[in-house]
Amino acid sequence: MKPEIILTAQGHAGTMATLLSEFTCHKLFDASDKEKFFKDLSSVVRGLATFGPLSVDGKLMDALPKLEIISNFGVGVDAINLDDAKKRGIIVTNTPDVLNDCVADTALALVLMTLRKFPQSEAYLRAGNWTAKGPYPLTTSAGGKTLGILGLGRIGEAIAKRAAACGMKIRYHNRRRKDVAYPYDPDPVALAKNSDVLMVVTPGGPETLRMINEKVLDALGPRGYVVNIARGSVVDEPALLRYLQEKRIAGAGLDVFADEPRVPPAFFTLDNAVILPHVGSATVETRKAMGDLQVENLRRHFSGQPVLTRVV
Ligand code: 8YV
Repeated sequence: MKPEIILTAQGHAGTMATLLSEFTCHKLFDASDKEKFFKDLSSVVRGLATFGPLSVDGKLMDALPKLEIISNFGVGVDAINLDDAKKRGIIVTNTPDVLNDCVADTALALVLMTLRKFPQSEAYLRAGNWTAKGPYPLTTSAGGKTLGILGLGRIGEAIAKRAAACGMKIRYHNRRRKDVAYPYDPDPVALAKNSDVLMVVTPGGPETLRMINEKVLDALGPRGYVVNIARGSVVDEPALLRYLQEKRIAGAGLDVFADEPRVPPAFFTLDNAVILPHVGSATVETRKAMGDLQVENLRRHFSGQPVLTRVV
């Protein structure tokens, strides 16, 4: 008998094929009556494969009293209430490390695109403005600027290496100071004050909710930039939008938003923002590696082995 699991969303094709062959899968995303779906499955479901921002809280866990494991596709587990899982003895796993390089590439690309305005200058060329109006206006260099990393974990360190290769100076803030050569700032305001580009890499969730607020943006100032590849929830989005519109900061590079995929349309018209549709880890190779790890955690759990990447 294959273990019965729920899939919260449609995953990568290869991952879906493996999940469907190794487990009895129930697709939440196909269910028209979600309440009935949970009721019908409450006595059989032992695993949950989660994708994306669907909130998994104590109420959902109580609807599945046989639930043993939540295997998340992604490193960020802010959509899962970890305390609720812990209380119920439910294992939570994620997919760290396999996405570090891709997400760090995206972060560096956003720094360069935002400071150098590459998307805007490409649009200028495509619109025929090079011949009509002459060269694109000068932008500003990354080299020599200071990148302040908020959240120097595994992804943050991968970003630091890339930025250093571009001649940027690195500093950081973490809850706990690390044994690294980069200068440390005691809080996000101090980090913003000492940085030209504030790189947001910290996990989402209640502890970091709107950590990048007006005070931090003021400390960054009209020559400062924000790049966010973490979670939209970490930034006070209406404040950021206002600061960009009023040029109270120089610009922003954003891969994540507060209510994805709904992005406030006001961002679409800003000349000082580069926006991406949460593509940090979105390559075939990385998404396959994430899916493989998600499946391996389920496979190991249901065959009585310890999971590979446990969060709680
Ligand atoms: C994915 C991510 O886009 O790993 C994360 O936390 O945000 C991204 O890699 C996301 O997990 C897709 O569901």
